[in-house]
Amino acid sequence: MKKLIVALTGIIYSLTSFSQAPYELPKLNYGYDAFVNNIDKETMQIHYEKHHAGYVSNLNKALEGKKFANLPLEVIVLNATHFDNAIRNNAGGHYNHTMFWTILTPEKNQKPSEKLLSAINNDFGSFESMLEKLNDAASKRFGSGWAWLIVTPDKKLVITSTPNQDNPIMDVEGPRGFPILGIDVWEHAYYLKYQNKRADYLKSIVEIINWEQVSKNYENALANPFLKEIEKDSWKELNDFHEIMAITFHSAEKGNFEPIRTRHMELAEKATALKQGTIPASFNNEAVKNAIEKLEKETQKMCKIASGKKVTDKQLMEQLEIVHKAFHDLSGSCEH
Ligand SMILES: [Fe+2]
Repeated sequence: MKKLIVALTGIIYSLTSFSQAPYELPKLNYGYDAFVNNIDKETMQIHYEKHHAGYVSNLNKALEGKKFANLPLEVIVLNATHFDNAIRNNAGGHYNHTMFWTILTPEKNQKPSEKLLSAINNDFGSFESMLEKLNDAASKRFGSGWAWLIVTPDKKLVITSTPNQDNPIMDVEGPRGFPILGIDVWEHAYYLKYQNKRADYLKSIVEIINWEQVSKNYENALANPFLKEIEKDSWKELNDFHEIMAITFHSAEKGNFEPIRTRHMELAEKATALKQGTIPASFNNEAVKNAIEKLEKETQKMCKIASGKKVTDKQLMEQLEIVHKAFHDLSGSCEH
């Protein structure tokens, strides 16, 4: 966990406006009876006071006494799989519902801003076609979960869905990106009025989407630093290299040189794969290319040294430190 927090220091400092523990239930901008024709008062009340409040209180409980308890909510969500299930589920539940309340409005049948509408037309053909895809994702989500309209790291709009209280910011399978609209398809969101008829609930909830807010979310998502984090996170060759680098380097630091003696070829292969692979768009610049080039050169040298018959631990450590530094220089180049 220490490593994760160190890695995220930069992003934490740039996100000081985000909420931190102990987390609180956000205030609603409307009454429980604001949408009586679409969502009944009792459902709204239970959903907010029991379900969402439950996620907040369980999240605070799960974080109690933990070293990382002060991480911003978005950082926990972004690194969800690094935490236990209680934290992952309740952080997701809190994040998802906080957004959900804001994307509903009593002002029916709003339309997206010109900029968002143009992006929707570009990526889906039409507003109606986007709504159809959203409806499809929400209908087909088996069991409990969410349907999303997200902005991906390459700034495209995509419809996706996630199970339980996961969301597309999380480091889990599926299209990842920053959500600008989320529809709750847990039965607790509609059962009292619609019973098992999720399709009727979906048809109705579309009428009360706060497109003014979703349009603001779109603007914010385009400039959101998490998009770059998600893009870096999804860089397979970089992650593969990091994995073997961590095993060989950290073992050597503790005096165990067996991994680097036996896996130096693998380290070099991963560096070559990184060099030959596609660099994600945000990182495709000269500094990153040079850093990869240097990393590959130093891992080749590492291989040559480690293959030597009489190589000492000291010699191995010296070159491993150079490779390790080259990797961190590459990571650093990706931050700019
Ligand atoms: Fe919910």
